[in-house]
Amino acid sequence: MWGGRFAEGPASVMKDITPSIDFDKRLALQDLAGSRAHARMLAAQGIIPDADGAAILAGLDAVEKEIVDGKFVFKRELEDIHLNIESRLKEIVGEAAGRLHTARSRNDQVATDFRLWVREACTHARALIDGLQRSLLSQAELHVETIMPGFTHMQPAQPITFAHHCLAYVEMLARDAGRFADAVARLNESPLGAAALAGTSFPIDRKATAKALGFSHPMRNSLDAVSARDFALEYLSACTICMTNVSRLAGELVQWTSPAFGFVRLSDAFTTGSSIMPQKRNPDAAELVRGKTGRVLGDFVALATVVKGLALAYGSDLQEDKERVFDAADTLGLSLRAMTGMIADLKADPAAMRRAAEAGFPTATDLADWLVRVLKMPFREAHHIAGSIVKCAEEAQVSLDKLPLAEMQKIEPRLTKDVYAVLSLEASVNSRMSEGGTAPSRVREQIAFWREKLK
Ligand code: ARG
Repeated sequence: MWGGRFAEGPASVMKDITPSIDFDKRLALQDLAGSRAHARMLAAQGIIPDADGAAILAGLDAVEKEIVDGKFVFKRELEDIHLNIESRLKEIVGEAAGRLHTARSRNDQVATDFRLWVREACTHARALIDGLQRSLLSQAELHVETIMPGFTHMQPAQPITFAHHCLAYVEMLARDAGRFADAVARLNESPLGAAALAGTSFPIDRKATAKALGFSHPMRNSLDAVSARDFALEYLSACTICMTNVSRLAGELVQWTSPAFGFVRLSDAFTTGSSIMPQKRNPDAAELVRGKTGRVLGDFVALATVVKGLALAYGSDLQEDKERVFDAADTLGLSLRAMTGMIADLKADPAAMRRAAEAGFPTATDLADWLVRVLKMPFREAHHIAGSIVKCAEEAQVSLDKLPLAEMQKIEPRLTKDVYAVLSLEASVNSRMSEGGTAPSRVREQIAFWREKLK
């Protein structure tokens, strides 16, 4: 493979450590696209004869067909996808194939292939995120009036609606999609033509290959072109942040499906049983999504560690980039599909949500606000008085709206029966009319916004 300089073959451990074909075969189509662009450019520039260019292009089509049909034989002794394709090309078209690698190195080749792959992965991630947003939006539409406890510190805080809760995730996911879009805007430049590291003495046309591959322009610096992997890190960081967001929803599903909450129910299709406890209905997929978040962060950390301190330009260390990115892409894809399925599948239980909302005196803030608004009390004093009234209701084991006025007046004599208008869950939710608040009218605005946006 390495030509004249080498007389002996590799040690057996070398045959184990150097190949990347087992995983970089996933770059096959990108590699073919890069080779086509390069071959066309070489012929157009008169660097190779037109006839050889045409033979190479026909040969690349034949190779692609073998790969797509699953007939291509990948060989570990040919190390990677680049040499596998080139070697097969030679078998198919003969000598002309040897001209394809003019003015090119595997260093700019792999950087090109990998950027193309990550670019597609970003687009794919955005489509999957879109799907999850749509499932959440559909649940939101069903539950604009469904009241649940909103939590802070995992303690019942104030009543909110299930729609409002679902839409919070739609917002988070929109930012996740935005990160993938930003990553594409930055990574979409062409390393091809940087050759090994210093450029080439052949009169290549880098603008032409960049254009053919859909890149916005050639990368300005050939050393940067072959050594940069920050685009992969950026993709992995977008994957990691998206997984952390999705893991929160997964974690909430785990809680909500527990009988202790009972807020939602997943159908049999999204539930697993236990081998010993017949009553169990485990939200396995949600737990796995939550768990897989660590794996994707691990992918980011692994690649960041590979790149850290690595001298320019190319080092074989960089061959470690691909498995981390493939793993993160596969894991993110699987997780988003599982979440989309579960969100579409779940049935909310408004009665259980309501019971939980009633239990935690979540309208205590509304009581304090009433004291401020009607009695013109400073908020701190109102907070103290409302706290005393909650204590009284707790002792009497009733919700705030069921506590007799006489009991409340023992604590604050100026309270009137008008206060009951703010103590129910509905009154509380309906009153939160500030922009972005949980009042159904406001939540309907959010729904309309996302319906339009996700069209
Ligand atoms: N298989 C290599 C990789 O994955 C391709 C580039 C190899 N270049 C080299 N000079 N060994 O990065």
